[in-house]
Amino acid sequence: MELGIKGKRALVTGGSYGIGRAIALALANEGCRVAICARGQQRLDVTLADIHAKGVESLAIAADATQPEDIRRVVDAVARAWGGVDILVNNVGGAGGRDTRPVEEVPEAQWLETYNLNALAATRFTTQVIPHMRRANWGRVVSIVSVQGKEGGGRPWYTMAKSAEIALMKTLALNHDLARAGITFNSVASGRVLAEGNDWDQFRREDPKRFEETLKQRLPLGRCGTPEEVAAVVAFVCSASASYLNGACIAVDGGESYSF
Ligand SMILES: NC(=O)c1ccc[n+]([C@@H]2O[C@H](COP(=O)([O-])OP(=O)(O)OC[C@H]3O[C@@H](n4cnc5c(N)ncnc54)[C@H](OP(=O)(O)O)[C@@H]3O)[C@@H](O)[C@H]2O)c1
Repeated sequence: MELGIKGKRALVTGGSYGIGRAIALALANEGCRVAICARGQQRLDVTLADIHAKGVESLAIAADATQPEDIRRVVDAVARAWGGVDILVNNVGGAGGRDTRPVEEVPEAQWLETYNLNALAATRFTTQVIPHMRRANWGRVVSIVSVQGKEGGGRPWYTMAKSAEIALMKTLALNHDLARAGITFNSVASGRVLAEGNDWDQFRREDPKRFEETLKQRLPLGRCGTPEEVAAVVAFVCSASASYLNGACIAVDGGESYSF
């Protein structure tokens, strides 16, 4: 399917590995110019080369998305290189690892850090790209959230932060000026995605039997998703064809979640 976004200027936060890398490559496949940011230079370089190999312009910027000045630097660098940003994928996020403490013992710092990494990073990136999108009279903002942020459950500090991201996308989607400037805001709610080195991969390596049993018991498809399965949906949400999709939160979870 032709997605109609050839030449668009895309920024994928946390694009060096995991789901973000798959999204960056999916957008490059569609002919977008793709910028990625993350903290680690080595993996940025690998993904930068893989994007470049697809024949599109690419940029990689080392930055920490928990730092507002880094976010400004990233958006400025993309705008300087390409004159603006048409597509933003707010992919950076996470729950800060597994935590088995009773909720009342989880320090406030954990809640604040998780909120900063997920909801505030998405807010900062989004508000900084909007002026560019207004100028272009076109834009796509997609936040990568989780099914728990959509329907509850999981670690409350993470679920709360992801719900806030969904609320941000939905509320901006309701803004008439932005909608009429051709800018859409949506969320893609991922289920459990297995990628090398992530929490699920660690669980699989530590206790393969229990990992398989858990998947068989809890997931309709009996397996985790892949980064590419999430990325394919994100690429469509970023497409020209998705122009009437605004304020949606789409679950890509193999049927795991219970909400309609
Ligand atoms: N994997 C899942 O099962 C799952 C399920 C539901 C939702 N999600 C959501 O999907 C998104 C991607 O998840 P993932 O599992 O692919 O993530 P991940 O493997 O933990 O990280 C992916 C990317 O984010 C970058 N990153 C992490 N912290 C950063 C920071 N402070 N500043 C800048 N970059 C940072 C990483 O590079 P560096 O480490 O080098 O910075 C990497 O490029 C997240 O928002 C997550 O909450 C994931």
